[in-house]
Amino acid sequence: MRVYAVIFMLAVVPAFVVGDTPANCTYEDVAGEWIFEVSGYGGDNKIDCTKPGPVTYKLHVQLLFPDVAVDVQYGTKGFWTLIYNQGFEVVLNNRKYFAFSEYTQQGSQVTMNCSQTLPGWSHNVIGSDWACYVGSKVGPSKVHTVRKERRPDFSQMMYRNDKKMVEKINRAQKSWNATIYPEHEMYTVEDMRRRAGAMNGLGSSRPHPAPVTAEASKAAFSLPESFDWRDLNGQNFVSPVRNQAQCGSCFSFAALAMLEARLRIATNNTVQKVFAPQDVVDCSEYAQGCEGGFPYLIAGKYAEDFGVVEESCYPYQGVDSACSKEQPGCRRYYATNYQYIGGFYGACNEELMRLALVNNGPIAVGFQVYGDFMSYKGGVYHHTGVKNSMLKFDPFELTNHAVLVVGYGVDEASGMSFWTVKNSWGTGWGEGGYFRILRGTDECGIESMAMQSFPVFP
Ligand SMILES: *[C@@H]1O[C@H](CO)[C@@H](O)[C@H](O)[C@H]1NC(C)=O
Ligand SMILES: *[C@@H]1O[C@H](CO)[C@@H](O)[C@H](O)[C@H]1NC(C)=O
Ligand SMILES: *[C@@H]1O[C@H](CO)[C@@H](O)[C@H](O)[C@H]1NC(C)=O
Ligand SMILES: *[C@@H]1O[C@H](CO)[C@@H](O)[C@H](O)[C@H]1NC(C)=O
Repeated sequence: MRVYAVIFMLAVVPAFVVGDTPANCTYEDVAGEWIFEVSGYGGDNKIDCTKPGPVTYKLHVQLLFPDVAVDVQYGTKGFWTLIYNQGFEVVLNNRKYFAFSEYTQQGSQVTMNCSQTLPGWSHNVIGSDWACYVGSKVGPSKVHTVRKERRPDFSQMMYRNDKKMVEKINRAQKSWNATIYPEHEMYTVEDMRRRAGAMNGLGSSRPHPAPVTAEASKAAFSLPESFDWRDLNGQNFVSPVRNQAQCGSCFSFAALAMLEARLRIATNNTVQKVFAPQDVVDCSEYAQGCEGGFPYLIAGKYAEDFGVVEESCYPYQGVDSACSKEQPGCRRYYATNYQYIGGFYGACNEELMRLALVNNGPIAVGFQVYGDFMSYKGGVYHHTGVKNSMLKFDPFELTNHAVLVVGYGVDEASGMSFWTVKNSWGTGWGEGGYFRILRGTDECGIESMAMQSFPVFP
């Protein structure tokens, strides 16, 4: 009797779980004419934009593909970029505007209106004058209604390793080895999905790397054949590998790891900070805590607008909790000049990534995690298509995991080009917490959305 009751309960638990945000808006949806209704000026970064006040200014802006924003009234030009499929940022007339695209959820039905934004934040470029705004697109609107498929309740299902998958991967190819990680069985399938990143991804419809210009090609020609920030003339500029545990906070680990490394580089290793992902998880309105977020909005926008704190000021818990008050004696560290590699979302490619990596420091990237990647032990990873047969339903289909590229090279044995990448799954995973992945073919989307920002030296 009890057994039946439990099974019945599991079956009726609502199977829809929120990830990053369910918005899934493309350039085609967003480019065009917008009205931004700005409410109030003169606030600071503590402004609450969840309930915008009376409109004090209407900005009429034209967003031209791919990155030019025009003030329709005055003809001045600025910049804009899409931020993955989640929203967009505009920089115009010395002010920045960022908002997520609008969505509503009713049961398993998600309606997103890519012609409308949620209330967002506007501030002057130096960040001293904040306001709120809501954007609406002029003309026919782009509304998508999606019904989330009912999935098994992954939060109740323990993850199971699949020995057969590991054997199959190792038989199928020689460039990388798979293994069993017994510790993965302490997680639920939902935990493993969260570890693998945000869930409302673009799948295979993500942007392709941009064509390489003659200029970039010429500049990249003089770069070394291999490079590693962990060993530059015997010096290591990369902070230690960490473990995000069951929280979908990869984006904050990747973002902060970039700032940690770049601060080490800027100071010749005399300033070795470790920053606090829990502060980002709990306090950043530019992300969705343990359900996901994006490095552009953290290493970039959050670090510029709010700054980040050291780990000792806000120790990692790996669960969502309320934002705690600032600890006395804890200062904030800032970053600036954030950008997608190439300038805007969709402008990235391998050569521009190598240039940014060697010239400026490690870069934060997103890529799709498939089930086989969980079992990676060493070598040059490429997706094999072998699935974990213990899972009847693949939870990793649309993930977007954030990690940090620290180097690149060519594998001697196989001749394969690779990126060297820092993960946040502990030092026991992969090659001491790192992995290498095929380079030059946009494997799993790793060359399509890299970003960087620059720490402001204290
Ligand atoms: C979507 O947004 C546009 C622009 O604000 C609005 O005109 C339209 O009514 C919205 N559509 C829905 C279904 O909410
Ligand atoms: C987002 O849209 C793309 C098509 O543009 C689609 O392939 C993908 O599955 C969508 N993602 C979600 C989570 O619905
Ligand atoms: C950077 O640090 C290394 C190791 O401590 C030292 O050998 C080197 O001279 C330093 N470089 C500069 C420019 O100070
Ligand atoms: C895979 O493991 C085998 C046995 O330990 C080893 O000989 C081989 O070099 C490994 N291959 C890679 C690509 O790491």
